[in-house]
Order: sequence, then structure tokens, then C-alpha cells
Amino acid sequence: MSKNIETHLQENRVFKPAKEFSKKARISSMKQYEELYEESIKKPRTFWAREAKELAWRKKWTSVLDWKPPYAKWFVGGKLNVTESCLDRHLETHRANKAAIIWEGEPGEIRTLTFRQLHREVCRFANVLLNNGVKPKDRVLIYMPMVPEAAIAMLACARIGAIHSVVFGGFSADSIADRLEDCGAKLVITADGGYRRGKIVPLKASVDEALDKYEGQVETVIVYQRTGEDVAMKRGRDKFWKEEMAKADKTHEPKAFDSEHPLFILYTSGSTGKPKGILHTSGGYLLGAYSTCKYIFDMRDEDVYWCTADVGWITGHTYIVYGPLANGVTQVMYEGAPNHPDFGRFWEMVERHRVSIFYTAPTAIRAFIKAGDHFPEQHDLSSLRLLGTVGEPINPEAWMWYHLKIGGGRCPIVDTWWQTETGAIMISPLPGATPTRPGTATRPFFGVDAAILDEEGNECGPNEGGKLVIRKPWPSMTRTIWGDKRRFRKTYWSDYEGLYTAGDGAFRGPRGNFWIVGRLDDVLNVSGHRLGTAEVESALVEHQTVAEAAVVGRPHEIKGQGVIAFVTLKEGVLPNAELNQELRNHVAQIIGAIARPDEIHFAPALPKTRSGKIMRRLLKELVTKGEVSGNVTTLEDLGVIEHLQESLANAKSQ
Ligand code: WTA
Repeated sequence: MSKNIETHLQENRVFKPAKEFSKKARISSMKQYEELYEESIKKPRTFWAREAKELAWRKKWTSVLDWKPPYAKWFVGGKLNVTESCLDRHLETHRANKAAIIWEGEPGEIRTLTFRQLHREVCRFANVLLNNGVKPKDRVLIYMPMVPEAAIAMLACARIGAIHSVVFGGFSADSIADRLEDCGAKLVITADGGYRRGKIVPLKASVDEALDKYEGQVETVIVYQRTGEDVAMKRGRDKFWKEEMAKADKTHEPKAFDSEHPLFILYTSGSTGKPKGILHTSGGYLLGAYSTCKYIFDMRDEDVYWCTADVGWITGHTYIVYGPLANGVTQVMYEGAPNHPDFGRFWEMVERHRVSIFYTAPTAIRAFIKAGDHFPEQHDLSSLRLLGTVGEPINPEAWMWYHLKIGGGRCPIVDTWWQTETGAIMISPLPGATPTRPGTATRPFFGVDAAILDEEGNECGPNEGGKLVIRKPWPSMTRTIWGDKRRFRKTYWSDYEGLYTAGDGAFRGPRGNFWIVGRLDDVLNVSGHRLGTAEVESALVEHQTVAEAAVVGRPHEIKGQGVIAFVTLKEGVLPNAELNQELRNHVAQIIGAIARPDEIHFAPALPKTRSGKIMRRLLKELVTKGEVSGNVTTLEDLGVIEHLQESLANAKSQ
């Protein structure tokens, strides 16, 4: 039994939803959850047809689901424009002049956009895209800071049927170039820069560098001026957002697209090779975003909701852009870092905007714990009624702190498990119904047939660890990997016939709760962000001094996992502290700052089998336990282990 499971098994604190909360909640008891869940699994077509009626369709579907594993089509024959559900339909209601986005820039400015204003901006920008020759299914790459224009750009793409591919603003020029090449974007939307921790992140400069490496079919770059700093503009290619908007018509009649029309590609790390482009389509994805917000965040008209993610990740797509807008809720959007000017920023904002639903990552919570209780204690957090977490397993200490210090002991916590590939939350408590326990995402959402299987495909018993799988299709599931059907089948659908393998290890407790233990593949979770060890390794070997590299994760107090790299240098290159630093920076430059290794250890050789395969198991054991156990007889050179052990011990004592 793994150590993680043992610690979880000792967890026996239970928190039932408060009666007050349950009374008003959409799902107010486990009985109600179980009945609906059963219907959603036994009669998914009936269940999802009923839910889908709450979205704006132009033409009703002829069939709810067409399932030829691993390919699903949802609401076949149905037609919609995703942005009508998010914007247009609210304009006919009391929501027209309600705030859709209350935005705060890191330096402190506040801007509010009502649903009507947001709609107007999206319409105008949709016309900008059309004026620049963007057609349905064309790819548009978006590399933006956290400003409302990021959402406006995404929605404008959706409105005209173009496929957006957002690249997180912390990624490097190389990462942009790789993604441009993979998706074949013809237009890029970026900004001069954005504010992060008091500094300006020069986004346009990275786009220029990326385009020097790979211009492909990129004809146009639209530049939003966020900071007003001077940027280089290439004649004929680069255009300012403001000027393009001024030229564009302000009205735009949306066309209807097929339910399965592609909506976006979002790149995410896998265990091998380059990041893969996860493709999501329209009707099913929107439904997943909409109904998880409705049931799990229990969103209501009077709520002020805040998800602290960046739009560059799936959480930002589903729980900043599509889900909250489809629910017509008011949300807070923030540009900068949680610790700017200090660790009180989030709590000050919760107080200022009277935030009622707050969704963040365990890594942020751990950083807040470390910063000290006096930050939240200085603020009135009484507006909060519901808290959520996402991105990685939450350790019970962090859960309890969140519950007591932020939630005042009264707010339910929804620990939500899901992935870029699943599009929307898959396993989570329902806040008015599910008794919660620190560390478990509890039970599957409606329509999610989750199970834990052993290697042979048998369902694991209580407290028995295995692979987390989903046995039936769900509306917001990824449809494929962009341009790589083979990889799609191999990555997710090849462990068990017809079942989706998530790549996470998990077990179920005696009451049926799901406890997610962590990734089973070579994917690290650093501050809630996915990072493939193979990506970091290939960045390292791109450096002229490196002969070979192996990367493993090590538990990290705040980040969840830290990146530890082992490197052998080319003949004649001598290891030293400067080179160590240079290599760490090199990785940050090639991928982005989140990938910067915490430690690099130089070694004359890496532990290998006699057939030349790097023995990662040993490296993992070395970094977690400081020694290796078990069978090392296949190891070629035992001295290598001793050398690495010494290097790790030295790093620790420094
Ligand atoms: C991990 C983020 C435990 C998991 C939405 C998954 C979690 C990966 C949780 C997906 C959670 C996400 N408890 N682990 N509540 N949420 N994970 O694609 O390993 O960036 O496979 O999507 O994060 O990361 P991704």
C-alpha cells in the first residue's frame, strides 16, 4: 500500500453541509444526488437532453449521443452558437445590465463589464476577426495577460466558428512556436504586456521571437495595449486592437454551428514528447461547463464568483469563460500574482467585491498558510458561502486551514477532480448534499461512470489502489488530440477496451468516496500545472553542454511537486555552480518559468540497465527516500548510485 493511501486512511473527520446551505441548494440531499446520478448513468440520453434544454439552441438535435468508442458525438444534428448561451440570451433578461466581469489589474485599477458591454465587445471583435479573413475552423492563437480582452478574444473566435488555442502567458517563445506549428494558426492575438508581481511581462516580444522561429501561415498579429509600453510592430502583419476595433462594425449576427463544431484546442503535457493539443467541441463542452457550474458551484444570480486560475489553463476556459457566463453569474477576474503587493491581496479583493464563491488551487492555499494567518484575519470574508479547489490532491492540513481560516467553518469545500481532457469537473462533492472529508474529491458528477481498476481490469475493492477510469462517454470529453488520432487512442483508450484511462492513481474508501493519489505516468504536477518529465529532459539536452538528462518529481511543501534533474555533461565539460544555474535558466527559457528545475545534479553517468535504459524508479527513490531499495541487480554500474546519493545529500545540507 502506498504511503499516500495510508495517510488518507487515517483521515476520519467528516463535515456535513449546513442545513441553511442545503435548504437553498439545487441538490440538497444524498438521496436526491443518488437518484439523479442513477438516472444519469442508466439513461444518459434522457438526463442530458433535459439539461441541454437550458442552453440556447438554434436547431434541436436528432440524437443525443452517437458512441463509437473512443469517438463520441453529442447532440447530433443540433445547431448552436456557443456565445448566444453565454451572452445574447442574457440581454433579454434582467441580466443585461448586470456585471459579467469585475476586473482588477495588478496595479489596482478596476473595470466592470456588464453582459451588454461584454456582448458588444465580443461582437465588434468578431467583426475584427472577419475583417482579417478568419474563417470557421481556422486556428487563432491567443497569448494574453489576464484582462477581459482575453475572454473577449476567445468568445469572438467561438462566435465566428474559429478554433482558439490559448497559450498561457508564462510559456516561452519556443512553446508558442511549437504550438503555432502544431495547430497551424493563421492569426495571433496578444498584448504589449501584462503585470505580474509589479513587473511587466513582455508578451509581444515573445510572440515576435516565436514568429522568427516559426511564422508558418501567420498573416496577422493583433496587439492589445495593456501597458502602453512601446512594442515593435511589423508593417502589414501587426495591428493594434484599438485601431481594428474602431474600424469594425458593432453588430454581429451569430451563425449557428453544428454541435460537434470544434471550439478550441488547448495544449497539455503528456508523459512522452511534446504537449498534445486537446480538442473540445461546442454543444457537449458547453453543457459540461454549464451544468457543473450550476450544480457544483450552485451558481445563482446574486452570487459573486471568483476563479483565480489563468485563462491559459483549462480551468480558466471552463470556469472563467464558458461556465460562469452561460450561467449569467457575476465574476471577478484578476490580472496578477496572489502576493502582490502582499499575501493579503486575494482576501482584500474578496472583501472589496463581496465574493461569495471562491475557487483556487491547493498550491496557493499552502503558500497562504506559510505567509501567515494575519493576512486573511485582516479582512471581512463573511460574504463567502462556498469554496472550491482544483489541480492536485489537497493535503488535509491545507483543507482544514481553508475551511477554518477562509471559510470561517461555515462554507462547504468542493474538491474538484478533472482534467484538460475531461473538459469539466468529473468528481466532486455537491455542496448542499455531500458530506466532505479533507483530501477526497468524494463522488462522481452526474453522468460520470468512474471506477478504479487493477491491471487485469477488475474493479478494486475498498482501500485498494488502482487506475482511475471512466467507463461511459460524457458530454464535455475531449474528442481527439489535434492531428494525432493514434496518440489519442494510445494515451487514453488502450489500457482497457473502450474505457477512458485518466492517468491518475486512486482508491475508493469504504463509503464509496474517490481519493485521488496522483499521476501514474511521467507527468509532474508543479503548482497545479502539468509538466512532462520528457519535456524538461529534452529542453536540457538541447543545451550544448548536456549529454544526457533524467528528470523526476519530489514532494514539495508548497508546489506539490518540485522538479529534480540529473544531468551528465559532454566529455570535457566540467560541472560547476554557474553551469548549474545556466541550465536551470535554460529550461525556463525553453518551456517557461514553471519548468525551471529546483535542483540539478551532475553525474558522470545515470543509473541504467544493462540494455541502456535509464532506471527512473531508482532516481525517484533516491530523491524521495535518499536511498534505493529493492532489486538493483540489473543496474550496470552501482557506483553511480553512491555518487548521486552524495550529491543529493550535499544539496540538502546547503
Ligand atoms: C490532477 C486541471 C487530485 C490530476 C483541471 C489530473 C487533481 C491533473 C485534482 C489534470 C484534484 C486535478 N485532486 N488531483 N481535485 N484536480 N488533479 O489537465 O493528476 O491541468 O490528472 O487539469 O491534475 O491537470 P489539468
